[in-house]
Amino acid sequence: MLRIGVLVSGGGTNLQAIFDGIDSGAIRRAEIQVVISNNVGAYALERARGHGVDALCISPKEFANRELFYQALLAKLDEYSLDLIVLAGFLVTIPVEMIRRYPNRIINIHPSLIPSFCGVGYYGLKVHEGALKRGVKVTGATVHFVDEGVDSGPILLQKAVEVKPGDTPKTLQQRVMEEAEWVILPKAIDMIANGEILLG
Ligand code: GAR
Repeated sequence: MLRIGVLVSGGGTNLQAIFDGIDSGAIRRAEIQVVISNNVGAYALERARGHGVDALCISPKEFANRELFYQALLAKLDEYSLDLIVLAGFLVTIPVEMIRRYPNRIINIHPSLIPSFCGVGYYGLKVHEGALKRGVKVTGATVHFVDEGVDSGPILLQKAVEVKPGDTPKTLQQRVMEEAEWVILPKAIDMIANGEILLG
């Protein structure tokens, strides 16, 4: 069994897609051990509790500085002996120590076709605002390994999504989630859990 920890900040629809994948058998030989949010009000935590999974908030606001926050986050992750950490809408920069401690064991879902609309400042709705402003006709989502850069790690899976006339950032975000994110994130986890992607 692949032991997974999921880091979230918001609604947790990608987390839900992972739970659904596990429940339906689309994700084989994997289980979520813990869900951690930086944001106490994240609905993702409710989703985790509903599944009987440990759901914790570790907020930077509770610590005197960033370093102490990072130490607490790492210590908590280490308690669960995780094989894979999934950043599912985790909108906080993760510490370099975490990337070094879990090499090729952290994946992220990003709501664009990397290398477009990614990097510093591109997260959540801002990604879709950027895509619409540039006038692209196709966008999508990417699952990639996390390295020490921003959205720069090796790409695992991508899926394209059509931009439609009249799209707003919100309508585009919803289509990218439904048609791409909720498909490729569970698929990447299933592939990792079943040896179809080598973890280096
Ligand atoms: C998702 O669209 C995810 O791709 C994005 O945040 C949203 C979280 O939604 N992540 C990033 O922008 C990371 N750079 P969710 O909480 O409903 O899964």
